[in-house]
Amino acid sequence: MLAAAVRILIIVIVLVALVGLVAAVWLTTRGPSAAQAARIAEVLEDTTPAGEPPAFAHCASCHLHDGSGRPDGSIPRLAGQRRAVLENKLYRLRAGTMHLPVMDPYARTLLLTEVTDIAIYLSQLPEIEVASSAASDEQRAAGAALFAQHCVACHGARGEGDDGLFASRLCGQYAGYLARRLEEAAAGTRGTADAIMQGVVDTVPTDDLGLIVAWLAAGKGCGSP
Ligand code: HEC
Ligand code: HEC
Repeated sequence: MLAAAVRILIIVIVLVALVGLVAAVWLTTRGPSAAQAARIAEVLEDTTPAGEPPAFAHCASCHLHDGSGRPDGSIPRLAGQRRAVLENKLYRLRAGTMHLPVMDPYARTLLLTEVTDIAIYLSQLPEIEVASSAASDEQRAAGAALFAQHCVACHGARGEGDDGLFASRLCGQYAGYLARRLEEAAAGTRGTADAIMQGVVDTVPTDDLGLIVAWLAAGKGCGSP
């Protein structure tokens, strides 16, 4: 009686072991399906462009690898910004003498050599194609004249910026971003950032600032309107 029970038990154990073995062999030889393999390849693919400094990897999560930011203006376009301007902003963010709450933790951890690498990289990125601006030629012409009156002294005749003053290149920036920065400068809510412009922005009526933005904004360039 006992011997029969032991025999049955042994047969059961052997069967379970065999099924387990077959299952293990099947699983290891099966491999991912074609769709899974494609997905894995996509995830593993390195999307970092050649020449991008390693320190820019965190920045790219918001500013994107091509430095294009967001056309809605929440994140500025940094591609093509002047090297001196980028370095100046990053030094100040790093040292805590200028604050942009969303960026502070990232800027704080940068080494000085990384600031240089990032600034060189961004300043050399090519122009980004953007949808044509909706502003009329009349609005743009009026904006060009107002810019010449109030802003050229620091930002250059075509909004190209100035290294000596660390004045940003404005030409080709997103309209939403330019408008927001000017609104904040006018309201005096940017702290030490943009303080140099406070006196000027305060004297320009809001509608005129809107026309200046129409001329500067990405989409038609800052040439003759
Ligand atoms: C979490 C998203 C995020 C990350 C990560 C980030 N930024 Fe930004 N950055 C922003 C936003 C949003 C602004 C616009 C802030 C504003 O206008 O108030 C900005 C603005 C900037 C500006 C312009 C500042 C000015 O005053 O015009 C520079 C330069 C910049 N970022 C560089 C970097 C660099 C370099 C890194 C990586 C070390 C980085 N950012 C990481 C979101 C981010
Ligand atoms: C006295 C010199 C001066 C004048 C005049 C001036 N700006 Fe500026 N502007 C600056 C400097 C310097 C910065 C960079 C500020 C910083 O990094 O904190 C700046 C920054 C800006 C920015 C933020 C863009 C960015 O990404 O950094 C905008 C927008 C801007 N200026 C628009 C204007 C407009 C429009 C006028 C004319 C109504 C004007 N500025 C007149 C010196 C000036």
